[in-house]
Amino acid sequence: MSEQASASPVHIRLDGEVLVVTIDNPPVNALRQAVRAGLQEAVEQLEQDAASRAMLIVGQGKAFIAGADIREFGKPPMAPFLPEVLNRMEAGGKLVVAAIHGPALGGGLEVAMATHYRLALPGAKLGLPEVNLGLLPGAGGTQRSPRLMGALPAAELMLSGKHLSAKAALAAGLVDKLVEGDDPVAAGLAYVRELLASGTQPRRTCDLEVADKAAALAALDQLAQDTAKKTRGLFSPAKIIECVKAAVQMPFAEGVKRERELFLECLNSPQRAGLVHAFFAERETAKIPEARAAAPRHFAKLAIIGGGTMGAGITVAALDAGLSVVMIERDAESIARGRKNVEKVYDGLIAKGRMTAEAKAATMARYQPSTSYDDIKDVDLVIEAVFEDIEVKKAVFKELDRVCKSGAVLATNTSYLDIDAIAAVTSRPQDVIGLHFFSPANIMKLLEIVVPAKVAPDVVVTAFELAKRMKKVPVRAGVCDGFIGNRILSVYREAANYMLEDGASPYEIDAAVREFGYPMGPFQVSDLAGGDIGWATRKRKAATRDPRARYVEIADRIAERGWYGQKTGRGWYLYPEGARTGQQDPEVLAIVDAERTKKGITPRAFTHEEIMRRYMAAMVNECAKVLEEGIALRPLDIDVTFLFGYGFPRWRGGPMQWADMQGLPKVLADIEAFAKEDALFWQPAPLLKKLVAEGRNFASLNQRG
Ligand code: COA
Ligand code: NAD
Repeated sequence: MSEQASASPVHIRLDGEVLVVTIDNPPVNALRQAVRAGLQEAVEQLEQDAASRAMLIVGQGKAFIAGADIREFGKPPMAPFLPEVLNRMEAGGKLVVAAIHGPALGGGLEVAMATHYRLALPGAKLGLPEVNLGLLPGAGGTQRSPRLMGALPAAELMLSGKHLSAKAALAAGLVDKLVEGDDPVAAGLAYVRELLASGTQPRRTCDLEVADKAAALAALDQLAQDTAKKTRGLFSPAKIIECVKAAVQMPFAEGVKRERELFLECLNSPQRAGLVHAFFAERETAKIPEARAAAPRHFAKLAIIGGGTMGAGITVAALDAGLSVVMIERDAESIARGRKNVEKVYDGLIAKGRMTAEAKAATMARYQPSTSYDDIKDVDLVIEAVFEDIEVKKAVFKELDRVCKSGAVLATNTSYLDIDAIAAVTSRPQDVIGLHFFSPANIMKLLEIVVPAKVAPDVVVTAFELAKRMKKVPVRAGVCDGFIGNRILSVYREAANYMLEDGASPYEIDAAVREFGYPMGPFQVSDLAGGDIGWATRKRKAATRDPRARYVEIADRIAERGWYGQKTGRGWYLYPEGARTGQQDPEVLAIVDAERTKKGITPRAFTHEEIMRRYMAAMVNECAKVLEEGIALRPLDIDVTFLFGYGFPRWRGGPMQWADMQGLPKVLADIEAFAKEDALFWQPAPLLKKLVAEGRNFASLNQRG
C-alpha cells in the first residue's frame, strides 16, 4: 500500500491491483483546481503504473462530489479542466469505477458518468442541478446523460435540478448496481474485483448511442416549447435542451464542443452571477453574531396562540418539523375553526395522494386544541398569531407572562407592530422575540427573526434553530415598522401608487413588474392578499403620516367599495365566478381617472422601463436606509428576504445584487432626478451616497456581521 500527495485533496493509494482514489475536499468535495489536478494525476498513474489494473473513485466524508467549486465561477479559469480530465479517464484501457455514497451532483455526477461502471450506496443522491445556478453541465454531462438515461429523462433531470435517490438512479440507468451499507471503499473494491474476475472490459459512455433518436427529437421540441412558457426569463433551460439535441444528432466529440460553447454563454450571463449570489446568500443568513456566544434553548413543545390563517399555517409547519403544538383560541367556536384550518391542509395532501390517513392521524396526535392558557404551562416556546392589534397582543403577552414556565421563549408573528413595546408588558423581555412567518406559513420559506432591544442571545439562537427544524430560510431583522421586508415593500408600493396617479394603469405596472421577472405585479398581489389588509395598515399609519407627504387615495376608493380582491370577486381586477386570474376592469380605470382629475393631474404615459426604474430606485433607496439603521445585518440579508418572501426573481440575485449589477452611480442618479419632482419621498439614502462617493458597492458590506 502506498500513500501519495497527502497534502493534495485527492488521496491515491494502491489496494492490491486497484488504485483507490479518494476525493477529500471538505465540506462537500467540490471540484476545485487542486481536486481536478489530483484526479488528473490519478488518471496518469493508472495509465503508467503496471501494478494497477483498475481505479476506484470514492468521496471522503458525507459527499461523493457535490460538483464544481461554485466559488470559482466568474474567476479566471485554471487548468486542468474537467472535460479533458474526464475524456482521458474514460478513454483509458483499464477499468474505472465510481462508488457513490452521498451527493454526486453536477460535476460530481459528470465524473461518475465518465467512469466505466457505477455503484450506488443507499445514501447516494444523483443530480445535475446546474440550472439552479444559471448553468448547464459543462464537462460532458449533457452528452453522457442522454446516452445513459435516454434523451427526454436526461433533459428533464437537468431542467428540474432534482436529485435522484440511489434506487431511482438505478431505474433510470445512471448507475449499474446498488448495494447496502455505508462504506464506499469496501463496497467499491468488492465490485471492482467482481468486474475484474469476470473479465469485464471498460464500457465507455461516449460510445453508447442515444436510444430512439427520432422520437427523442420530437419529445425535445415539445419540451422546448413547454419550458419556454414555464421558465419565462431564464436563460439556461433552453440551452440545456439544445445540448441534449446535440447529443442526439451529433457524434460525442462534436456534441461536447457544442456543450462547451453553450456553457460559456451561460457562464458569462448576468443570470449566472445572480443565481450564484443567491446560492451563497441563502447559506449566509444563518451566520449571526449571537451564534458565537450562545447555544439554543431546548424546545419540543410549542404553543400557538390564534388559529387563523397564520396560526394554522405555523401549526402545520411545527407539526411537520416533528414538534408538538397546543393551539389556543378565544372560544370553542374559534378553536373548532382553528382545528379545521389545520386539518384542511392535511386533507388537501391526502386528496392529492401525498399523505396517508394514518400519517395524518399520527401527525394530529401531536396537536392539542384548547381555550385555556392553563394548558400551556409547560411549553418551551410560544408563537402568538392573533389579530394585528397592539392592545390585543399586549393582553395576550400579559397572560403568557403569567402562565408560561420560566425560560420559555415568547414570540410574536406581528407584521408591523413594535415588539419592544410588546416585550415591555412582560416581566421577562429577555425571552420575547419576533418570528415573522409569511403566508401560507407552512409553505413560504422566509422567516424574519426580529430581534428586540432586550432579548437574550440564546433566544435569538433558539429562533434560528427553530427555522432550521422547520426548513425555513431565516433572516435576522431589527425592530421598526415592517422590519426588513414589509418596511421596504411599503415604500416601493408607494412609488407604484404615485405612478398610478400620474398616468400608468395598474395593469401596465403589473405587466412591467412581471416582465422584470416577478410572478405577479403589486396590484395582483394586493388582490391576492386582500385589499382590506393594506387599507387597515394605511388607517393605522394615518396618524403618524408626515403631513407634507404625498398621499394617493385611489386604493382607499377601491377598498371603500368592498372590492378587496379575489375573496370578494373584484379588486383591482375582476374575478368572475371565483376565477384566479383577474380581468382588467374599466370601472377601476374610471375611478383612477376621477381621482387624477380631482387632484388636477394630467395623466402622462410611462414605458415599462421607466416604471421599473422608479419601482427599483424606491426599493434600493429604502434598502440602503434599512442597512444603515442596522435593521438588516448585511445587504445579502435583504436579498434573501426578497427572494424568499416577496417573489423577487432569483436570477437577479435580489435587490442589492441588482443594484450592484446596474452600478450604484446609475441608481443614485435616478433617485436624484426623481427628487426634483418630490424631494421628500426621493431623499437619497446617505449610505447610498457614501458608497457611490467611495466607489464601492453593496457587496463590499457583506462581510460584516
Ligand atoms: N462549491 C462550493 N461550495 C459548496 C458547494 C459547491 N459546489 N456545495 C456546497 N458548498 C458549501 C456551502 O456553501 C456550505 O458552505 P458554508 O458551510 O461555508 O456555508 C457548505 O458547502 C455546506 O453546504 P450546505 O448546502 O450547507 O450543506 P448540505 O449538507 O445542506 O447540502 C449539498 C449539501 C451538496 C446537497 C448542497 O450543498 C448542494 O446542493 N450544493 C450545490 C451542488 C451543486 O449545485 N452542484 C453543481 C455545481 S455546478
Ligand atoms: P386571522 O384573523 O386569520 O387570525 C387571527 C386569529 O386570532 C383568529 O382566529 C382569532 O380568533 C384569534 N384571536 C384573536 N384574539 C385572540 C386571543 N386573545 N386569544 C386567542 N386567539 C385570538 O389573522 P392572521 O392573518 O392569521 O394574522 C395573525 C397575525 O399574523 C397578525 O399579527 C398578522 O399581522 C400576522 N401576519 C399575517 C400575515 C398574512 O398574510 N395573513 C402574514 C404575516 C404575519
